[in-house]
Amino acid sequence: MSVTLVIGTQWGDEGKGKIVDLLSKEVDIVARYQGGANAGHTVVFNGNKFILHLIPSGILNSNSICVIGNGVVIDPYALQEEIQLLNNFNIQVNGRLLISDKAHLILPYHKILDKASEECSEKSIGTTGRGIGPAYIDKFARCGIRIGELKENETFRNHIEKNFNEKIRLISNVYNKVIDINLEQTIDDFLKTVQIINNFISDTTTYLNENIRKGKKVLAEGAQGTLLDVDHGTYPFVTSSNPTSGGACSGLGIPPTSIKHIIGVCKAYTTRVGNGPFPTELRNEIGEAIRKEGFEFGATTGRPRRCGWLDLVALKYSVMINGLTSLAITKIDVLGQFDEIFVCTEYELEGERTTNFIPHSQILSKVKPIYKKFRGWKKKLNGISEYQKLPTQLLEYVKFIEEFVECPIKIISTSPDRLDTIIIE
Ligand code: GDP
Ligand code: IMO
Ligand code: MG
Repeated sequence: MSVTLVIGTQWGDEGKGKIVDLLSKEVDIVARYQGGANAGHTVVFNGNKFILHLIPSGILNSNSICVIGNGVVIDPYALQEEIQLLNNFNIQVNGRLLISDKAHLILPYHKILDKASEECSEKSIGTTGRGIGPAYIDKFARCGIRIGELKENETFRNHIEKNFNEKIRLISNVYNKVIDINLEQTIDDFLKTVQIINNFISDTTTYLNENIRKGKKVLAEGAQGTLLDVDHGTYPFVTSSNPTSGGACSGLGIPPTSIKHIIGVCKAYTTRVGNGPFPTELRNEIGEAIRKEGFEFGATTGRPRRCGWLDLVALKYSVMINGLTSLAITKIDVLGQFDEIFVCTEYELEGERTTNFIPHSQILSKVKPIYKKFRGWKKKLNGISEYQKLPTQLLEYVKFIEEFVECPIKIISTSPDRLDTIIIE
C-alpha cells in the first residue's frame, strides 16, 4: 500500500506542479483530490512551459494514468481548453484520464455567483472567479450536479434548468444583478461542452483502491495550500476545500492507512494572491525584487503575487496539520540576490511572543513578525546538482529551516526546469 501526497504548505503556488512532475516518473497514477481550475500548476521542460489547472501534472509523463477525484469541482469549459492545449503538444489525454462519477460540476451560474458575491462583499476574498466557492456551496447544500448525472439524459437538463432558474432569482434578488444571457442557448452550449467528460467518467474510488491493493504507486497532487484550507487556513480568506492531507482521503475515497509519504512543498520565501493577512509581507523594494526575480504573477489569473520572507511559524503549523514526512524547498535561487535574508521565527501580539500560528484572520493581521537574520550567498546556482556543492550560507539557511520545523528537507529546487532539482538521499 503506497500513496504519496504532495501538498502546498503556504498560500499556494509553492511549485507543486514542478515537484509532482518530477516524482510522477516513479509512480503509476497521479490524482487530484480537491479544488478545481482555480489551481495553476506550472511544469517546465525542454524549453516548454505547461500550466495545468484541472488535469493532474502527471499527464506530462506518458507512463502515468491521471485521476480527477470526487473531491474536485469540474468546469467542462476549462477541461476542454486544457485537453486541447495538451493535444496541441501531442500529449495524449484519451485513455489516460479518469474522472470520478462523484465529482461535482461547475456550471456557468457558479462563475456568475462567484463574481457577484465578490463585487457585493465589503471584504472581498479576491477569489480566482472560477466558481469554486459557489460549486462547493451547492455540493454541501446537496443541490449540486454530479458527473454521474451526465448519463441520465432525461433528468440532466431538467436539473440544470431548475438550478439555473433558482440562481437567477438569487442573483437578481440578493445581489441586485441582471443576468444578461439567453438561458436556452447557455444551457444548450453547456450540454454540448460537458459531453467531453463522457469519455473519462469512471468509478475512480474503486479504481484507486484496487490499484493500491495491487501495489501500484499513487501520487496525490494537492492544489492550493495549507493556509488556504477552509478549516485550517486564514478563514475567511481561504478557498472552499481541504488542500491539507486529510482532504486527500475524502477527496479520493482512499483510507488514511494507505498513505506512506506526505511531502510538503514550500517556497524559500512566501507569496500570497488575493486578500487576507500575511505577517511577513514586504510592501517595499525587497518584495518587488522577489516578485521580479521569482516572476511572481498568478498562473491562473496573472495577478501580481504579494511577496514576503519565509514564515517558519506558519511552516511549522503546516508540518503539524499535514503530518509532513519531508519537505521540498523551491525557488531558493530567487534569494541569491540578497546580502541578508530573514525568516520569521515568532509572532509578537500585544507585547507577548508566540511560536504558534494563529488561524484567525483578524488576530493574525495584528501580529508583528520577529525575524532571524541569515547571510546571503550572492551566487547563481546554475549547474549545481549536488547538495554538498551548494553555497555554505544556503546550507545554513536550509538546515535551520529543517531543524526549526522538525521535518527533513529532501528536495531543493533551483530553477523552474525539471532538471534543476537536487534530491537529498
Ligand atoms: P503551484 O501552483 O504550486 O504548482 O506553483 P505555480 O506553478 O503556480 O508557481 C510556481 C512558479 O515558480 C512557476 O512559475 C514555476 O515554473 C516556478 N518555479 C518552480 N520551482 C522553481 C524554482 O526552484 N526556481 C524558480 N526560479 N522558479 C521555480
Ligand atoms: P495553486 O494550486 C494561490 C486563492 C485565491 C483567493 C482564495 C480563494 O496554483 O497553488 P477561490 O477561487 O479558490 O475561491 O479563491 O484562494 N487561491 C490560490 N492562490 N494558488 C492557488 O492554487 C489558488 N487557488 C485559489 O487567490 O485568495
Ligand atoms: Mg499555482
